[in-house]
Amino acid sequence: MSLISPWRADFPALDALERQGQTYLDSAATAQKPQTLIDALAHYYTNGAANVHRAQHLPGAMATQAFEDTRRKAAEWLNVGSSGQIVFTHGATSAFNLLAYGLEHLFQPGDEIVISALEHHANLLPWQQLAKRRALKLIVLPLTIKGVIDVNAAASLITHRTRLIAVSQLSNVLGTWQPVTELVALAKAHGALTVIDGAQGIVHGRHDVQTLGCDFYVFSSHKLYGPDGVGVLFGHHQALAQLRHWQFGGEMVLQTGYLDATFRPAPLGFEAGTPAISGIIGLGATLDYLNDVNHVAAVEHEARLHELLRAGLMLREGVRLVGDPHVALVSFFVEGVHNADLAHLLTEQGIAVRAGHHCAIPLISSLGLSGAIRVSLALYNDSDDLERFFNALDQALELLR
Ligand SMILES: Cc1ncc(COP(=O)(O)O)c(C=O)c1O
Repeated sequence: MSLISPWRADFPALDALERQGQTYLDSAATAQKPQTLIDALAHYYTNGAANVHRAQHLPGAMATQAFEDTRRKAAEWLNVGSSGQIVFTHGATSAFNLLAYGLEHLFQPGDEIVISALEHHANLLPWQQLAKRRALKLIVLPLTIKGVIDVNAAASLITHRTRLIAVSQLSNVLGTWQPVTELVALAKAHGALTVIDGAQGIVHGRHDVQTLGCDFYVFSSHKLYGPDGVGVLFGHHQALAQLRHWQFGGEMVLQTGYLDATFRPAPLGFEAGTPAISGIIGLGATLDYLNDVNHVAAVEHEARLHELLRAGLMLREGVRLVGDPHVALVSFFVEGVHNADLAHLLTEQGIAVRAGHHCAIPLISSLGLSGAIRVSLALYNDSDDLERFFNALDQALELLR
């Protein structure tokens, strides 16, 4: 079956990579960028860069306008009403760190933070370190054999001692959607704060964060076809009001003397210093592009590709899938073959996939693996990419066995 992506031509890097003999199947790490974004960056840099929120001059006003437009577009993208609930960070990782420091004052020794067994280090280490600083207990929700957070176990592990839960929407290793709606409801029943890691989930389909009802939702622009160096933190008004200022510097201050200061509320109070102006403007252009994409068609296209990938891998002798992936990616290993050797041979043949622990060492170790190969898909991939991948895989396996 031949599957052509109608969106491929919108991403010029795909052609450039092809000319270099590269097949890009690592979009879960970072995605290629649409021409609309490249044009927006070129426009900003060729028409006059300026700092935001500070200057009274025209270039400053124009940059501020475009910057704030992105905040509005991000709020619309997540369907969260007011753009005052959108804080720009330097990525998902910096958003989690902001939360773990900014909420620290709410915790007493013995309080519990609940995460899950499949979290990316970005949504594990900030909480782990917070737990160490404040003598908290970190509770890790187990997974079912299908690689999904076990809601029954969660129902007994989320209790009146739980102050916060932080879980992933879509696993970057297993490709499984997580029962975030149920987990948010359980947490809310106990008055706990809820943080959703949307770094992978945001890329596949549209998500209504308002309906989800979480307090915080985090994603990185670069995985959603936007520029790197930019993260989006949605915080519900009431949740943001509980956040203490964490990073200090320009534009986040209301008034300061040498010895004391008062700070702005969210969002600007949490955006100390010059933000990633061009990147945030670029994210706005990317969201414009994505708003024009037919999402039903994109989800269907990705689902078909995913099925081809899954089925093709399962056909091959000795290949074992990690978990039971739903969308976007498949991680696998081959019995009797070290994943680093296989990755090396794939790389030599121009196949860009990711190998290793995928920043989820506890998960990979708990599965008894030293690593896995991850093939990840985006809306610009098509069946030719998979054909090249499978040809390379077959050649590599022939050499290795
Ligand atoms: C599920 C998940 N959470 C968080 C992150 C961290 O994102 P970033 O490195 O952009 O901060 C990633 C990146 O791979 C991820 O896959």
